[in-house]
Amino acid sequence: MPRKLFVTTALPYANAPFHIGHMMEYIQADTWVRAQRMRGAEVNFVCADDAHGAPIMIAAEKVGQTPQQFVAGIAAGRPQYLEGFHIAFDNWHSTDGPENHRLAQDIYLGLRKNELIDVRSIEQFFDPVKGMFLPDRYIKGECPKCGAKDQYGDSCESCGAVYAPTDLKNPYSALSGAVPVRKSSEHYFFRLSDPRCVAFLEQWTQDGKLQPEVANKIREWFTKAEDGSGGLGDWDISRDAPYFGIEIPDAPGKYFYVWLDAPVGYLASLTHLFARRGHDVDAYLADPAVEQVHFIGKDIVYFHTLFWPAMLHFSGRKVPNHVFVHGFITVGGEKMSKSRGTGLSPLRYLELGLNPEWLRYYIAAKLNARVEDVEFNPEDFVARVNSDLIGKYINIASRAAGFLTKRFAGKLSADLGVEGRVLLDTLRAHRATIEQLYEEREFGKAVREIMQLADRVNEYVDQHKPWELAKQDRPADAGPPQGGGTPSAGGAAGAGASSVALHDVCSVCIEAFRVLTIYLKPILPALAAQVEAFLKVAPMDFADAARALGHHTIGEYKHLMQRVDAKQMDALFEPPQAARVEPGGEPIADEIGIDDFSRVDLRIARIVNAELVEGSDKLLRLTLDVGEGRHRNVFSGIRSAYKPEDLIGKFTVMVANLAPRKMKFGLSEGMVLAASHADGKANPGLFVLEPHPGAQPGMRVR
Ligand code: 2FM
Ligand code: ZN
Repeated sequence: MPRKLFVTTALPYANAPFHIGHMMEYIQADTWVRAQRMRGAEVNFVCADDAHGAPIMIAAEKVGQTPQQFVAGIAAGRPQYLEGFHIAFDNWHSTDGPENHRLAQDIYLGLRKNELIDVRSIEQFFDPVKGMFLPDRYIKGECPKCGAKDQYGDSCESCGAVYAPTDLKNPYSALSGAVPVRKSSEHYFFRLSDPRCVAFLEQWTQDGKLQPEVANKIREWFTKAEDGSGGLGDWDISRDAPYFGIEIPDAPGKYFYVWLDAPVGYLASLTHLFARRGHDVDAYLADPAVEQVHFIGKDIVYFHTLFWPAMLHFSGRKVPNHVFVHGFITVGGEKMSKSRGTGLSPLRYLELGLNPEWLRYYIAAKLNARVEDVEFNPEDFVARVNSDLIGKYINIASRAAGFLTKRFAGKLSADLGVEGRVLLDTLRAHRATIEQLYEEREFGKAVREIMQLADRVNEYVDQHKPWELAKQDRPADAGPPQGGGTPSAGGAAGAGASSVALHDVCSVCIEAFRVLTIYLKPILPALAAQVEAFLKVAPMDFADAARALGHHTIGEYKHLMQRVDAKQMDALFEPPQAARVEPGGEPIADEIGIDDFSRVDLRIARIVNAELVEGSDKLLRLTLDVGEGRHRNVFSGIRSAYKPEDLIGKFTVMVANLAPRKMKFGLSEGMVLAASHADGKANPGLFVLEPHPGAQPGMRVR
């Protein structure tokens, strides 16, 4: 019986394009899924947009769209990333789909029937201008501890204090600026503190299915302090209208909190997939053989190991079999923050023409089964791709394939010689270990193992020197190097000893390359497909490693993979050029609507300071005041046109809501507008925009 797997990755909020952290999770899960499929498992691998919640509702309102329009716009941007990095989800759906509405309500009704839902009145801050209760992150004020201004409702960025929003001094609504008032309303709670829930979760989280460090962390959450504090608290699952979410049955004006319906989206996406195929999803989920597997980041463990299994169990459903938790991806030690989107942009990576499988390989090489952060280091990236992937693995094929095509018409020798057979047996003997490492998500170890095998193949090549065999062979039985009577009959009677040896050695290389390709295929699916075409073989599974190609004719070798150039890494971390406002010489861009334009938040900025950037002949470092009560740091590629001292004190226009970018020299928090010709070389000149007198920092440009 094939193994049956239902696999998900965390559902991304539909408020922004993917960042590199999403791509890392998808690459991890996709690699695992591909390895399982290559072992014969039947896998359903799904994801969806996490569409609901106050931040998305507010973001949509800001750009004059309905939340539905807004999330549709985000969803439309997903495929280019997923296809770009070869992430093969079977389905992509939305938590705002009808399946999710029905499932979330069903689950809730199941919990209510089990008497696990309570209604209580709670007091919260309410924005009298907006007419809505304010989530913590939309309440600002002075830190109750250190007095820092403009701090969020949950913690102080200045002194690190953590507090309740009601503790803030002089609180104000970040949405309207109004002073919030305290107001009470009825909220619905999932009674997680119920002894039945506690008993179930203590068992479910501690029975060995979770990573040890995850299980330990959860034990802390269960522990009650002597004063009775701590332990599992009840969970507030409702929000008052206006809210973009799913209505709570029999509770007019009340919606599920986004985190209630988000994981239900896993089931909704699966349901949508099965409906599309005309299959019965209930029967599938009732099958005890089906394993439900969630890949998630370390920041959302609480939701996935406490709330989610309890919701499923107490509404009479199948609970997850595995929750695989990973760390964050960091650049220069800094987290790829969700809200700030700093650092390595996956889209820019693709736009620059960098090979997506370099990134898959690099990430796989750094991943293990523990909850550890993965550091993206550009030099290390170049080294691993060029020295290992290309230098050790790809080169095996490029060293052998030419001789086979030119001298033996692509026909492989089936004899291979004793040493060749021993080498291939060694490679094949590692298959079980490598499969197991994939199974355990020890991808870094798998890659190391595979590269050690590649080292052995290269040693074999170095010992047998096919290039010398080819030279020795030529005078004896080869015709002119090109054209005319190309020697083609591989192993034909009368071929010299060196010709036989050359044929065997090259055939061993190709067979070894094929086996290594199988081992790397979960990580490098597109490359493996190219190799399959070159070798003229059907799509390969792990089991194909045990077979030999024997008498087989391969196709012509075409270059399989380029090396990375360190300059490409520089480009990846360089800022986009100063925006160009083209007066002519360049065609006008595609038409956009006013909504598209209003997504770009242009502001008047005062240049508080400007200075040269050591190590860059293109950039100036600008310190900008856009009336926020803090300064922004922006790197701008205008050094060729301006002296820093000529800019200080001037006003200009900046894109204020551009995602911050982490650069070699620091964080760049926006972009300054400048005019230039498209062809800067033929038509030099770069002109920073300056508003008419009277404009003040922070004014919006529209
Ligand atoms: O943390 C996040 O980005 C959430 N959108 C993850 C949701 S995972 C699942 F529950 F939907
Ligand atoms: Zn403080």
